[in-house]
Amino acid sequence: MSSSKKKIVENIFYVGVNDREKTLFENYLPLPQGVAYNSYLINDVQTALIDTVDVHFVGQFLANVEYILQGKPLDYLIINHMEPDHAGSIGFVCQKYPNVKIVGNVKTFEMLKGYFGIDNQIHTVKEGDSISLGEHQLSFFMAPMVHWPEVMVTYEQKTQILFSADAFGTFGTNDGGFMDTQLNTDKYWDEMRRYYACIVGKYGAPTQAALKKLSALPISFICSTHGPVWQKEIAKVVSLYDKWSKYEAQKEGVVIAYGSMYGHTMQMAEAVCEGVIAGGVKDAIIYNVSKTDTSFILSDIFQYNGLIIGSPTYNTELFPLIETLVHQIEHRGIKNKVYSCFGSYSWHGNAVNILTQLAQKLNWQMVSPTVENKHALSQDKEKQCFALGQAVAEKLKVVSIA
Ligand SMILES: Cc1cc2nc3c(=O)[nH]c(=O)nc-3n(C[C@H](O)[C@H](O)[C@H](O)COP(=O)(O)O)c2cc1C
Ligand SMILES: [Fe+2]
Ligand SMILES: [Fe+2]
Repeated sequence: MSSSKKKIVENIFYVGVNDREKTLFENYLPLPQGVAYNSYLINDVQTALIDTVDVHFVGQFLANVEYILQGKPLDYLIINHMEPDHAGSIGFVCQKYPNVKIVGNVKTFEMLKGYFGIDNQIHTVKEGDSISLGEHQLSFFMAPMVHWPEVMVTYEQKTQILFSADAFGTFGTNDGGFMDTQLNTDKYWDEMRRYYACIVGKYGAPTQAALKKLSALPISFICSTHGPVWQKEIAKVVSLYDKWSKYEAQKEGVVIAYGSMYGHTMQMAEAVCEGVIAGGVKDAIIYNVSKTDTSFILSDIFQYNGLIIGSPTYNTELFPLIETLVHQIEHRGIKNKVYSCFGSYSWHGNAVNILTQLAQKLNWQMVSPTVENKHALSQDKEKQCFALGQAVAEKLKVVSIA
């Protein structure tokens, strides 16, 4: 339970929790700075809870809610998103407040029935519908595929608060405060991009559609389901989402992602990177895919406009962890890269062929010639690697960052 009521504005409270225990979000994304599951409570004539939290925190969550309600009934539970990191505690909320009316859309209720067997006391809303709580009025707008099909956002008119579900969320707990005005927000920007790249990254077009729809609303606070409440930084988070969902890079720089079992491809990566720096690009980041989790690499791929991938040929294909990275890039349809690739082999190379096809599939600007080396790295091939890096850097110099 909180030691004080976590007020956002008069009668609207933060009742979420910090998760400092889970090591992997969705059981595959590292959480070095933890994550918060946010939920919000409006204490008006009628009371409304917006989303819940991961079921592992249900005890603390229900105590947070009761700390505000003090015996008053809970009238509405608004479900913006049915993913279990938010929907997990719905069953317990309904047990504790058996008269609560559940608000969602048609797609929400199909999932609610499937996951919880609940199909009574439901109130179905569609685009633009509203509910009055007394002084506060909630309106609902559909945001399908940001990040699941049933996702909607809830807008409170009096206070101009947008309850945005996962949109504008970030990894990282809310330490000692939950408003961006209280915290040094620097720690969130990289984690917010990694969250976007991994969780929402495939859904650029639906995110653009949601941003257009919401641009008509005056917004004073964004209350997402993860990370701080945005007040001071609204313009920044909206512009970041706009950039990421258009697949526009934020910075000039080159990510060099390589896989290497015995060091030959790694040597090539070093030479490529020296070429990038010699070509005048200062941000050149080498990632060994066996060491750095793919989520951090993807996050930097969203951030920088240059990408070079290196792989040994492995059973006629790509090194397995490079294959994973390439699949994740393709799956997200990442656009707008200046790109090249390199690789090594022992008897019949194919990695560079496969990596070259990636550029065609995603319509990237391919920088040639690529380099594929047989056996030990020759001085000649090393020079070609350097030249490849330099050529990518020079190409970047004539590409503008939006
Ligand atoms: C399991 C395994 C599978 C491989 N498959 C191929 C292959 O299909 N074609 C090929 O030319 N070389 C193949 N190789 C050889 C590597 O591509 C070659 O040794 C490469 O230079 C290794 O790069 P590295 O030192 O960066 O790990 C294979 C090596 C291993 C260990
Ligand atoms: Fe989600
Ligand atoms: Fe979420």
